[in-house]
Amino acid sequence: MVKTAKNQQMTGTLVGNESQNGNHAYSEAVKSGLYAKKTGLVGKYDNVRRYWEDEITRQFLRLHLQKLIKRSRSQMRRLRILDLGCGSADGYELLAGIRHRDPSLQDVEVDLLTPDVLGLYKGIDLNEHLIIQARESYGNNPKITFEQVDFTKGLPISKSEKPYDLYFTSYGTCSHHNEDRTLIRLLIDIAKRTEEYCVIVCDWIGRYSYEWQSLWTNDLSKNRNINYVMSYIYEREEREQRRDELQHLNLRLISHKEAESIVTKAGEKAGIEIKPLVYFDRSIFTGRHMDTAEYNPHAQPIRQAVNSLHEANQRTNLHSLLIDYVPKQGFDFLNNYFERLQMCWNILVHYVEKLLLTYDEKQRLFDPDPLAIPSSYPPALREMMERMRQVIDGVGWLGIGLPRENIIEPQLGYALRYLVTNLQQGQGCAHGLVGIFEVDKT
Ligand SMILES: C[S@@+](CC[C@H](N)C(=O)[O-])C[C@H]1O[C@@H](n2cnc3c(N)ncnc32)[C@H](O)[C@@H]1O
Repeated sequence: MVKTAKNQQMTGTLVGNESQNGNHAYSEAVKSGLYAKKTGLVGKYDNVRRYWEDEITRQFLRLHLQKLIKRSRSQMRRLRILDLGCGSADGYELLAGIRHRDPSLQDVEVDLLTPDVLGLYKGIDLNEHLIIQARESYGNNPKITFEQVDFTKGLPISKSEKPYDLYFTSYGTCSHHNEDRTLIRLLIDIAKRTEEYCVIVCDWIGRYSYEWQSLWTNDLSKNRNINYVMSYIYEREEREQRRDELQHLNLRLISHKEAESIVTKAGEKAGIEIKPLVYFDRSIFTGRHMDTAEYNPHAQPIRQAVNSLHEANQRTNLHSLLIDYVPKQGFDFLNNYFERLQMCWNILVHYVEKLLLTYDEKQRLFDPDPLAIPSSYPPALREMMERMRQVIDGVGWLGIGLPRENIIEPQLGYALRYLVTNLQQGQGCAHGLVGIFEVDKT
């Protein structure tokens, strides 16, 4: 007889078992990890990763994925994607989350990469544990496969394998090419194997992130690599306790100029143009090592503050968002850029603070009215100041549902994200530098 909760009760013998079962069920739940308290304040998938980094990357990829889909559809075939250094296949999730631009409130199907569009996603990685994890997550989908391979040994696809439409990397993976020649070789292989057209996404660690200001140099033959410590995974106290056992990675730091040089060399050697489409900086003041200050004693925990903005039911002290950029002598081109960005960021934060102070929830209006926004401010800043005024005016009186914590603060997060996305220049001034390229033989 199969034991069910009902017949256990009927036999009347199972009080002990029941309590054991109960214990077992809780133990199972804990083991699964799904019973853990989820927070966006720390860890790999914190709020900045999910609401800023993933989304900014998707924003820049959208147009190119759209073009690839259109092209493959017109050729009556589906899309083939190769993720080089896929880890546990977060890149698949990132790509699958790219949406149509500005879907209307009524639209339900908003994803670009729907199951009917995808032909194959193949992820390759050197690390067998990550491959196992990736297979555990996606192994049931026959259109998703994984292989343990080293991408520094050239393009890991066999002669009989059809070329791919999208060669993808994410979150600094290209910086694992410690020597440029291995990436150049990979790019040459991709260019040569392309039959008609492909898009290549290269994701590096930015050379001029404020996080590692101590490593900035004007001589690009110096400080080419960072001894990158993954200390940010832990909160401060645990980080210090575990300092000796922390993992270190040797990662290539890349500026826009160096990226251009790598790609140009690969194109020349292959005799095929690898054309840059766009470069973008991702996480300018919000890289993970802003919080650890491992490589810059002046770094402030801005990521922590932005994580808090996006955390449900949590109120943020807006002062924790204010940046005091400390310049480095001999780097005027960087100091000018960061100082201007810091000014815009702080102006927006101060403005929102003032709006919150002057909003009268009973009368549902600002008292006094907010000051006019100077026309000398950059358009992106003016736009976001105006938007935040409208947001607070629109929901400040709601009362129920914690409007400050759950609507106004996340909206400030998006407004700051908009600001940095619009003012970034794709120069390598952020945690990540991403380049999107095409090979077009048609
Ligand atoms: C920064 S992680 C990114 C992982 C994943 N793409 C993501 O977005 O989360 C870099 C990945 O590259 C892999 N990797 C490093 N060197 C490699 C190599 N020589 N060949 C293949 N994979 C490599 C690492 O194992 C790791 O999974």
